[in-house]
Amino acid sequence: MIEPVYVASESRYDCGMKYRRAGKSGVLLPEISLGLWHNFGDVDTLAVSKEKIHYAFDHGITHIDLANNYGPSYGSAEETFGQIMKKSLAPYRDELFISTKAGHDMWPGPYGEWGSRKYLMASLNQSLRRMNLDYVDIFYTHRFDPVTPLEETLQALVDIVRQGKALYVGISKYPAEAAAFAYRYLKDRDVPCLLYQGRYNMLHREPESEGILQQAAENGSGFIAFSPLAQGLLTDRYLCGIPDDSRIARGGHLKRDELTEDVLKKVGLLNNVARRRGQTLAEMALAWLLKDSRVTSVIVGASSVQQLADNLKALQNTTFSAEELREIDEIIS
Ligand SMILES: NC(=O)c1ccc[n+]([C@@H]2O[C@H](COP(=O)([O-])OP(=O)(O)OC[C@H]3O[C@@H](n4cnc5c(N)ncnc54)[C@H](OP(=O)(O)O)[C@@H]3O)[C@@H](O)[C@H]2O)c1
Repeated sequence: MIEPVYVASESRYDCGMKYRRAGKSGVLLPEISLGLWHNFGDVDTLAVSKEKIHYAFDHGITHIDLANNYGPSYGSAEETFGQIMKKSLAPYRDELFISTKAGHDMWPGPYGEWGSRKYLMASLNQSLRRMNLDYVDIFYTHRFDPVTPLEETLQALVDIVRQGKALYVGISKYPAEAAAFAYRYLKDRDVPCLLYQGRYNMLHREPESEGILQQAAENGSGFIAFSPLAQGLLTDRYLCGIPDDSRIARGGHLKRDELTEDVLKKVGLLNNVARRRGQTLAEMALAWLLKDSRVTSVIVGASSVQQLADNLKALQNTTFSAEELREIDEIIS
């Protein structure tokens, strides 16, 4: 059967998406971005992956977040995206902001992980091939490498930009001290850090408590939050048990032992607050992050179009009364 040609919705920039500037850069990113860590690998259905990416783009999500090892299997999310890029999104390349990363375990041997120039350069070349792209919009060092000299990792990022293989660079999960060094090093070479990517959600507030959010803002970098729904814990997904098709049941990165009595109690109470606000818990969890102007965007994962549609509704109400904030603080502290 010949597949119909994809034509993006004409209303994609008129359906409620808002865009925020990444730090002091010229780049605007959608408040909600789509991440392909889970649900886009070769264990998933290409048709469903395609439907979600089309839906996202049709609703103003211009930023897609990837990494070399997303799948499973490693590399397969980039391959899935590459197929969709080739078949339907190629005409829209200049409307898309695509990221990839390297840092975690990717291939065997001494050059397949961490932060050496050897690994980062080779990995990006592989990612570009898998994704059918000439360049990515942002390339990240995916995690801090305590052994490789930080200068080596950061200079590789600078050279990647000079080679035209990435337009911008970013850092992910760097401790504050290493991040401070990175901001300075990159700025001195006229390749400022566009984004710090860190885990941030109602159950994990380290970017606030460790000063990472404020540090990014002070250095002119944007902050983009990953796992904003705590991998699904901050939704109604687990309120009545563990569904068979959920990330926990499917053996993803969310483990059964993270669903503790304490977490379930907090989630139940948060769900009540969300209902009172006329939102689902997922919507409220995203809105709670977006109330902070230092947060450039939140990267959501979604196993269905329905989830994505629900998450987009978060943008309809991102303001909280002082009382709501106090109540939420009490629940999650
Ligand atoms: N830099 C890093 O080291 C790093 C690390 C992790 C993630 N990331 C990035 O961040 C992205 C998002 O991470 P994440 O997938 O953990 O994000 P998340 O948004 O916290 O969790 C996504 C999961 O939550 C559930 N969900 C989403 N929307 C829902 C809704 N409306 N109602 C009910 N359940 C809903 C789904 O779980 P089910 O599958 O159970 O349906 C979905 O797979 C990744 O794809 C990746 O791009 C980066």
